[in-house]
Amino acid sequence: LKINLYYYSTTGNTKLVCEKLRKEIPGLEIYDILDRNLNLNDECDIYGFAVSTYYLNLPPVFIEFINSLKVITNKPAFFLITYGMMPGKSVRKLADYLKNKGFSIIDYHLLRMPESYPVFIAKKRTDINAPGQKEMMNFMNFISGLKEKAKQIESGNIPDSKLIKPGLLNSIIPSQTYKKIMKQFGTLNVNTNLCNHCKICFNSCPYGAIEFKNEPVFNMGKCTGCYICYNKCPNAAVYTNILESKWQYSGPSKKLEEKFI
Ligand SMILES: Cc1cc2nc3c(=O)[nH]c(=O)nc-3n(C[C@H](O)[C@H](O)[C@H](O)COP(=O)(O)O)c2cc1C
Ligand code: SF4
Ligand code: SF4
Repeated sequence: LKINLYYYSTTGNTKLVCEKLRKEIPGLEIYDILDRNLNLNDECDIYGFAVSTYYLNLPPVFIEFINSLKVITNKPAFFLITYGMMPGKSVRKLADYLKNKGFSIIDYHLLRMPESYPVFIAKKRTDINAPGQKEMMNFMNFISGLKEKAKQIESGNIPDSKLIKPGLLNSIIPSQTYKKIMKQFGTLNVNTNLCNHCKICFNSCPYGAIEFKNEPVFNMGKCTGCYICYNKCPNAAVYTNILESKWQYSGPSKKLEEKFI
């Protein structure tokens, strides 16, 4: 059985979870949606999608990816969303995008992870111990369920599609507009005394919002406020007019990685 899991991960949380799925589920391979060599015509038996929550929604680059897929009628698919505090509309939106592409959603899971949103890290609204024991148990149950459904599919029985239940609070919370997101994000700057010209920021911006002229030059018209350049800068040289540079999330800690061994 061939299972293709497509993921988008800004700081490594979602990737870590996907790697666990690869270890546990035979036939499952993972693909970074930003990989230039990604072959979208690679057909498989089950499709998987994994992404982190982005301002109570999905990251624009992930929506673009889903939109670029061709319509596939009744192919079984599952999805996984990681989040820090509240997934908001991300669950409903992803389910709707996939259904519109003709996928039949056989399962999905939400996993709370440490917060990668620097504004909340600055406000200490993060749980570095997430996911807790019970959340890990639920995640492992999700994996067992997926394995079971993969076996069913292998023997020719397509499982029923799963009812999507985003939860009341996630359903009623209003979406944020791009304008509102950018207002709370502010304007990017670089501390030239700290910048070592490594270009990591330039190479990791998925929105083409950085030009490089010895140091990064930010195009705020293209920026989506994803904080990738901010989080990934090895010298904490990137800051905004609203947030100083010291609240980076530099990716999964050893302790977090150990939970997914
Ligand atoms: C710009 C930005 C916006 C975010 N918005 C939300 C959000 O609305 N709700 C939430 O629960 N987590 C939010 N997060 C936290 C991430 O979804 C979470 O930490 C996730 O596990 C990060 O995974 P990744 O490293 O694979 O991208 C946000 C993080 C960033 C950087
Ligand atoms: S990642 Fe940081 S240190 Fe590297 S070029 Fe960008 S701003 Fe400079
Ligand atoms: S400039 Fe930075 S914050 Fe803006 S989109 Fe690019 S990586 Fe994200």
